[in-house]
Amino acid sequence: MTETSTPTPGTDVPADERPQNSGPFRVGDRVQLTGPKGKRNTITLQPGKEFHTHRGIVSHDTIIGLPDGSVITTTDGIEYLALRPLLVDFVMSMPRGAAIIYPKDAAQIIGQADIFPGATVVEAGVGSGALSLWILRAIGPTGRLESFERRDEFADVARGNVATFFGYDPENWRVSVGDLTETLPTTVERDSVDRVVLDMLAPWECIDACADALKPGGVILCYVATVTQLSRVAEAIRASGRFTNPDSNETMVRGWHVEGLAVRPDHRMIGHTGFLITARKLADGTVLPELKRRPSKSDFSDEDVELWTPGALGERNVSAKILRKRVRNVTTSAELSKARGLGAGPVTSDSADRERATADGAAHTDNSEPDDASRG
Ligand SMILES: C[S@@+](CC[C@H](N)C(=O)[O-])C[C@H]1O[C@@H](n2cnc3c(N)ncnc32)[C@H](O)[C@@H]1O
Repeated sequence: MTETSTPTPGTDVPADERPQNSGPFRVGDRVQLTGPKGKRNTITLQPGKEFHTHRGIVSHDTIIGLPDGSVITTTDGIEYLALRPLLVDFVMSMPRGAAIIYPKDAAQIIGQADIFPGATVVEAGVGSGALSLWILRAIGPTGRLESFERRDEFADVARGNVATFFGYDPENWRVSVGDLTETLPTTVERDSVDRVVLDMLAPWECIDACADALKPGGVILCYVATVTQLSRVAEAIRASGRFTNPDSNETMVRGWHVEGLAVRPDHRMIGHTGFLITARKLADGTVLPELKRRPSKSDFSDEDVELWTPGALGERNVSAKILRKRVRNVTTSAELSKARGLGAGPVTSDSADRERATADGAAHTDNSEPDDASRG
């Protein structure tokens, strides 16, 4: 059963009293306090309140009015660094219902889906609201975000996280509870949406509903975790005939340790989160022109496959002379290895010379040439 919520109510917090992203700390701002061991606590500034630690007390009043990035001291003389949390800090520590989109992917989503100030964006599912926060930031107060989530309790988690971050309920954000395919057509007008972002298990089920909602030229972006989902949603986008050919990628971010002369990649990194796939909606009735380079096996006939030749693929032929030399080298290497394996006596100076020559040859010739040749 589908239930559509009423619009998220506006806020009675006047704009000039809402938490700020910069400037001296004000009442209502969230402040991240980092202690001597790097442990972080976030507080919301209120007159007369105190923050209690194992290392003494800090009065909120001593923080209010200080510049962002100040150091404060507890009653026990321990120093804490006070900074406004960034959105990255917030999303990584906020309560979660469903798994969140990581900041590295959220940043790419904003860029690749071309989410701009003033855009009308549809997002599903809402999950914990992490992506909602990034989108709301990107569209600004003149944009509109329509979010869809089929689980009531997740929608509540998201609403709570968004209100906590902004300090009010954004007037330009509405969460509708229900399955996107059923709820979208009754919630937004046809051809009225600039961008659609899907983060759900089966986005291929929603492609037609999203195509109806998007304006011609609008962007659809799907975030999926597995290659099987990636393939399925790509084929669904193609099969709809209503979009450009989709582009797919993933983003890997490797942190670096940079301290004095110890400059190296971090030992650990997030190996995999998900894939992004984007496409643009065609105007109604438009048929996508044929591509010069065909995108997938499904677009090739068996005759086309027969026509593939090494030359057409850009493969260079290796000359007979080079080939004979490689065969000689590889045979010598094989003989040496086999002789050692059979427990033959000590390697003679003659065979040692040959071994060295073969190893040199392998390093400089055999290992490099085939790669170059096959690249064409
Ligand atoms: C991984 S979570 C989304 C996380 C979210 N993007 C974030 O950053 O916090 C996927 C969500 O999609 C919801 N969902 C799955 N299929 C849906 C559908 N057809 N319509 C609406 N919501 C759906 C699930 O209930 C789940 O909460």
